[in-house]
Amino acid sequence: MNSTETKLIEMHEKSAEVYHHILMNTELGQKALDYLHDRGLTDDTIKYYQIGFAPNDNVINRFLVEQKFEYQDMRKSGLFLEDDEGKLRDRFFNRIMFPIKNEFGSIIGFSGRVLNKEDSTAKYLNSPETDIFNKRDVLFNLSNAKAAIRKKDAVILFEGFMDVISAYQSGIENGIASMGTSLTNDQIKVINRHCNSVYVCYDGDAAGQNAINRALSLLGNSSLTLRVIQMPEGIDPDEYRKQFGEEKFADYMSKSIESPISFKMRYYKLNRNLDNETDKFSYIQDVLKEVAKVDQPIERDLYINQLSDQFNLNKNDLTMTMNSFIQKND
Ligand code: CTP
Ligand code: MN
Ligand code: MN
Ligand code: MN
Ligand code: MN
Repeated sequence: MNSTETKLIEMHEKSAEVYHHILMNTELGQKALDYLHDRGLTDDTIKYYQIGFAPNDNVINRFLVEQKFEYQDMRKSGLFLEDDEGKLRDRFFNRIMFPIKNEFGSIIGFSGRVLNKEDSTAKYLNSPETDIFNKRDVLFNLSNAKAAIRKKDAVILFEGFMDVISAYQSGIENGIASMGTSLTNDQIKVINRHCNSVYVCYDGDAAGQNAINRALSLLGNSSLTLRVIQMPEGIDPDEYRKQFGEEKFADYMSKSIESPISFKMRYYKLNRNLDNETDKFSYIQDVLKEVAKVDQPIERDLYINQLSDQFNLNKNDLTMTMNSFIQKND
């Protein structure tokens, strides 16, 4: 690591302390703290993730100048916006601040959330790309989760970092999330260095289901074993925990694991009307293409049986069609 990078990390570490102090101990942070309590986060969780609050008065700029950080380093930190005359002011204000760490536990960026969604067009504002913050390979919580990931030989991949935090508070410690971007190949490589299985647990809304499908395709090019943890329709993991409590949430998570194919059997139905012959036929074809990718003959047989029962079709015909897709895959 070069000296600029060291300085940038130092600035982030100090800023996180300031934000956290303001949240926990000052009048300025009271509304934000109430907001987090209302969402059901405990003080232990808030401390563990060093969550903070950025008020509206350029506090980080003044603090880092006081701490004798150099202007050029401050410019490069991503913590500030610069006006035409080169004057810096805090990029983050009136936001709840979530520190983002690299794999080794150093703070390299922030994500700031507005308290009221109506206050801003962007619910979350992330640090820009800098020498130390590269969104494409960051995985939120990886440094905290490493030991649990090793032990379970698996990660749970969530859509949002609030879901990761909710999981942690519920005793599920191997959760990670990408930072507001869809999953990248760089992140998959990082995951693969730490374990052999991925449980994809995205939101139960349409966007989440589409994102699962996309993530499964991308992850399918790796040697990772894949599973989906399916949320109830319309809610995300954090909302589930808020609604039903930590224990029921953890219980739900452990009981809602399905194979990628089971996910796709459901997913491919979403924009189709299976009473319509054309839709039904293309649905069966899509599913058979997935079945053709399964290595185990017994598992393939299982899905063929399911399709045969569901649509009252001849197993041999289904198997023949499926086999034609296996040959095309080669
Ligand atoms: N995201 C973002 N900017 C937005 C909306 C979302 O960067 N305006 C990113 C965030 O990293 C967020 C993730 O996309 O964690 C998932 O989005 P969403 O499900 O909308 O957010 P939640 O994590 O559910 O956030 P919250 O519960 O605080 O509303
Ligand atoms: Mn409170
Ligand atoms: Mn979402
Ligand atoms: Mn969500
Ligand atoms: Mn949410």
